[in-house]
Amino acid sequence: MRITVTVDGTKYTDDVEPRTLLVHHLRERVGKVGTVVGCDTSNCGACTVHLDGHSVKSCSVLAVQADGCEVTTIEGLARDGQLHPVQQAFHDNHALQCGFCTPGMIMQSIDLLADNPDPDEQAVREGLEGNLCRCTGYQNIVKAVRDAAKHMSPGAGPEAEK
Ligand code: FES
Ligand code: FES
Repeated sequence: MRITVTVDGTKYTDDVEPRTLLVHHLRERVGKVGTVVGCDTSNCGACTVHLDGHSVKSCSVLAVQADGCEVTTIEGLARDGQLHPVQQAFHDNHALQCGFCTPGMIMQSIDLLADNPDPDEQAVREGLEGNLCRCTGYQNIVKAVRDAAKHMSPGAGPEAEK
């Protein structure tokens, strides 16, 4: 099937098999390898992207379901050489070790901050419960998300996508 998906602001038209998962399309055809596969079974959240402004696990979406949609990946967040506030907060708070979970954590964090701009610790932990990290123990991830909330301005970043 021929599909057209706008990824990080650029339109890509490709022929795909109906069974192709969005995450494989993004990585193998579009070249967005910042979106990673941890499990392929919708358990780990490493593959999280935004589909029309809302986070999805891209291993649980078929590429054909994204036809005509806008996808934002971790690679589309930085603008004009500036990290997105959530990327900056992860950096500042040492919220990653191996970094494998980080693209999905950041995409999911942006989504949760769009829904709740000032989450308490419990709200962050619940908002990220579908994203697994094997390294950090989550403490600094929670700190980073709450720190990012202080630096997010209305109308910037994820809010603008919604
Ligand atoms: Fe999609 Fe793990 S690769 S949830
Ligand atoms: Fe290694 Fe999260 S930093 S899995």
